[in-house]
Formats: sequence, structure tokens, C-alpha cells
Amino acid sequence: MAISARVHLLFLTISMAFFSLSFAEIRFSQIRNDDRPIIPLDEFGFTPKGRLELNVSAISLSPEKSGSDLSYVGFFLCTRESWTHVFQDLEDRQIQCVLMSEMVKKVLNFGSLDKALGGKRIDTVYNETDADQYTLLFANCLEGVKVSMNVRSAMYNLDGKDNVRDYLSAGKTVLPRVYFFFSLIYFALAGIWIFVLYKKRLTVFRIHFFMLAVVILKALNLLCEAEDKSYIKRTGSAHGWDVLFYIFSFLKGITLFTLIVLIGTGWSFLKPYLQDKEKKVLMIVIPLQVIANIAQVVIDESGPYGHDWFTWKQVFLLVDVICCCAVLFPIVWSIKNLREAAKTDGKAAVNLMKLTLFRQYYIVVICYIYFTRVVFFALETITSYRYLWTSVVASELATFAFYAFTGYKFKPEAHNPYFVIDDEEEEAAAEALKLEDEFEL
Ligand SMILES: *[C@@H]1O[C@H](CO)[C@@H](O)[C@H](O)[C@H]1NC(C)=O
Ligand SMILES: *[C@@H]1O[C@H](CO)[C@@H](O)[C@H](O)[C@H]1NC(C)=O
Repeated sequence: MAISARVHLLFLTISMAFFSLSFAEIRFSQIRNDDRPIIPLDEFGFTPKGRLELNVSAISLSPEKSGSDLSYVGFFLCTRESWTHVFQDLEDRQIQCVLMSEMVKKVLNFGSLDKALGGKRIDTVYNETDADQYTLLFANCLEGVKVSMNVRSAMYNLDGKDNVRDYLSAGKTVLPRVYFFFSLIYFALAGIWIFVLYKKRLTVFRIHFFMLAVVILKALNLLCEAEDKSYIKRTGSAHGWDVLFYIFSFLKGITLFTLIVLIGTGWSFLKPYLQDKEKKVLMIVIPLQVIANIAQVVIDESGPYGHDWFTWKQVFLLVDVICCCAVLFPIVWSIKNLREAAKTDGKAAVNLMKLTLFRQYYIVVICYIYFTRVVFFALETITSYRYLWTSVVASELATFAFYAFTGYKFKPEAHNPYFVIDDEEEEAAAEALKLEDEFEL
């Protein structure tokens, strides 16, 4: 094998090991003059009643060598585990072509076509009865031959007695319900928040209305995601709801990061204005969120093996890491300011109390970011394909805990500890601090 082909295969092996994103919409791929030995197309988790529908049209090979065996060109399904074995066999030259391996499930090859392929089409339905997570790949073992074709692939499981088609991968088929459930929780949270704002209307700040907007956007985002996933489940395509989903994701992303920055700066709690450097953080985070959302759309729409998938995935991860780091700065500045203030003015205990709150907030933001990024990714990689929904549940629970903590700690209060002014309350704060000193962070 040529070096580039080996690098390509190795890269494929790695991405198969780490990204288990079965999108499982009906997918259309146009392949033009492609001489890659292996072309990955899609991934899907099958139940014992799985089906793969493949429609290949406008097939042409160039140059059309006479005498070459077209049964070495075709589609196959392969689990990740068997792929590692096949890869090893190819490396050791035990087999010349992937399609010779016993470890892969051959779906269709071009051997049945006669010469003069031009414009030919093949349609087939393949029954997959061994439940597992499979990748659909195309192999072309003819050296120097370029393939062009249009491929429509639809993978689904048949459900229940009526054999209804379910286009969501085995571990994701409950996701519409999961998202719907969480959206109800957030609508309830929004209701509770409105009630709190009404009860404590004399001590409400602008930031509290902003928090309400963030919760409502989160609820709408989840509702659209539920509807989007349920539409894909029924029809295999995502028309209409995906656009709404992206719009709300975008608004939710921007407002959530803005909220973390605003709370971190103490805006409207501690001071009615933003400093220049704090505004700069917002000016970095908001445009980056726009880029992150564009990247997310491209990633979702192009599928795990689309042309630019990997580039956009990297862009997304990079932008996300920058945003996550940037939102921590205002909190750190606030902590620093409070610490200095505690030394200089008379209200030391009150300042220290605020300080404790901001330290807690800092740690909670880090935990939230860590959990929804790193732990989520780890869970998604290690859980079996059948339980992929559990990582979504874990990540949504962590997100909910974060929203609940933020709401609880920064709720409007008559006896707002951040605004205590008289000596009595200063004493009370000092008392409370003595206790907390023993558990100092
Ligand atoms: C694809 O092939 C299957 C199996 O032959 C067939 O039932 C289906 O109608 C075809 N779909 C299209 C869009 O051609
Ligand atoms: C696939 O299953 C259907 C029934 O569910 C059956 O009619 C068809 O013959 C099977 N196809 C193959 C290739 O086994």
C-alpha cells in the first residue's frame, strides 16, 4: 500500500474509534473521480431488525480497464472491532482487498454489472440481523481506478409488530423523549423563576430578567431538538425543525455565555456598569459563539465523514475552548477586586462573603464546562452504542444543576448579602464567615 493510502486508513481507524456520532438520516453522497481505497459513508446502530437501503446511480469507473475484476469494488458494513482486525490483516498483507475479508459484511459489489458501466444504477436492500454498531464503507481495490457515483443510503430499524421504520440509531431512539422531558423541566423552571421574580419584585435586577430569557431559550431549544429528532426518527430527514433548532441553539449559546460573563463581573449586583476589559471579553465571546454555531451546523449537516467534517470539528472545539476560558476571566477579576476591597474598607466580612460566593461560582462554572465537554465526550466514547442516550442525559443533568445553582445563588432577595449595609448585618456576615473559614476552599 502506498504511504498516503496507509495514512488514510490509519486516520479512518482513529476516527472510527473516537467519534461515534450516528446521525442516521437518509444520506446522499456524490462521489466524483475518487481513488481512495476506502470511503466511509455513514454509521448506524442496528437492532436485530435492521435494514440498509442502498441506491447507487450514475456509476462510472475511469479508466475502464478491461479484464479487471469488478467484484473488488463495492460496499460493506463493518463494526469497529472487526475493523481493527481487518486493518491489521491489510497491514500484514494477509489479504489484498477489504472485500476478501471474512470479518466484513459485504452488501453489494459491482461484479454483477457488465462492462460499459456508464450511467448504470443498482438498488438493494440489505437485512442486518446481528445487532451492533456498523459503519458503511465503500471499497475500491482496483489500483489507479477512479470511481464516480451518486449514493443514497438509508439505514433504519423496524420497530414493533407493524414494522414501522425508525431512522434513529439503536442507542438514540429514545432521545426525542429525553429532550422533551428536559424541555418540560426548563419550562417549569421558568415558571418558578417568574413566580420568584413576582414575589421579590422590589429587589429584582435587570440580570434576573436576563436569566429568565436564558431559561426560556434553553427550554425552546430542547423542545425543537425533541421535535427535530422525532421527525428524523419518522422520516429520515430533518426538514423545518432543524432550522428552528439551530436558531434557538444559537440564541441560547450566546445568551448563556453572556450571562456567565455578566454574573462573573457582578454586573447589576455589585455595580451598574461594565469595565472596558469586561466589555472586551463579551466582544470576543459573542463573535466566537457565532463561529461555533456555524461550525456546529456544518458538522451536523455533513455527517461524520463529510469532506470538511474534521476541519470544522477542530474549529468548533478550538472556539469552544477559547470561549470557556474567556468567561472565567471576569470571575477571576471580581475575586481579585473583592479581595482587595476586603483589605481596605470597613465592611470586610461582607466583602469576604461576596468573595466566597464568587469563588463558588468560579468552581461551579469550571465543573459545568468540564462535565459538559470532557466527561460528556468520554462517556460518549466508552458507552456501548445501545446506551448512547445516557451520555446526553448525564450532560443535560449537569447543565440543569448549573442552571439551578446559578438561579439559587443569585436569586433576588430582600436580605441580599451583597448589599448589606448596616452594622447588624455586617456582624451577622462576620459570624457566618467564622463558620465558613473552617471549610475554606
Ligand atoms: C432504493 O432501492 C430500494 C430497493 O430496491 C427501493 O425500494 C427504493 O424505492 C429505492 N429508492 C429510490 C429513491 O430510488
Ligand atoms: C429481508 O427481510 C424481508 C422481510 O422482512 C424479506 O422479505 C427479504 O427477503 C429479506 N431479504 C434478504 C436478502 O434476506
